[in-house]
Amino acid sequence: MSLDRHGFLMAVITFVAVSLAVIGFYLVGIRDPEPAPFAHLPGDAEAGRVALARMGCAACHAIDGVRAAGGRVGPALNDLHAQRFIAGRLPNTPENAVRFIVDPQGVSPGSAMPNLHVVDVEARNMVAYLYSLGRP
Ligand code: HEC
Repeated sequence: MSLDRHGFLMAVITFVAVSLAVIGFYLVGIRDPEPAPFAHLPGDAEAGRVALARMGCAACHAIDGVRAAGGRVGPALNDLHAQRFIAGRLPNTPENAVRFIVDPQGVSPGSAMPNLHVVDVEARNMVAYLYSLGRP
């Protein structure tokens, strides 16, 4: 079987068009690799920033914008929104971050993160602040 000139040209054009479409989708995917930003951040970010400072979270965690931050006992919390898991255990959602802050041992028995008796509303505010960090 032999393709005539026109058929061959059409095959090449089709191949190039399909390839460009595939590459295009791929590039769009690369440019926006994050999951969609959480639509409903749970609390008041500024109140959260104040609470993070007051409760001494920065003694163990580096947290941008919280004075005396720079602790190295726990992981830096400056890019939390981009992580896949909270404490390596729970899928990263604001609800799960709140859960962990309120009850670290309950979520992750044996975790070195202490239970600081953070109440729910305060944890929500903290999470609202933490998820605002590390965004362009
Ligand atoms: C005594 C040190 C210490 C203090 C104080 C502390 N943490 Fe932690 N935190 C840790 C450690 C260690 C981990 C990692 C343990 C784990 O993942 O189970 C952690 C993990 C976390 C994580 C999960 C991070 C991740 O990358 O998945 C969050 C969120 C967090 N802490 C928030 C807080 C908040 C909010 C406070 C203040 C209320 C706080 N921590 C106070 C030690 C601390």
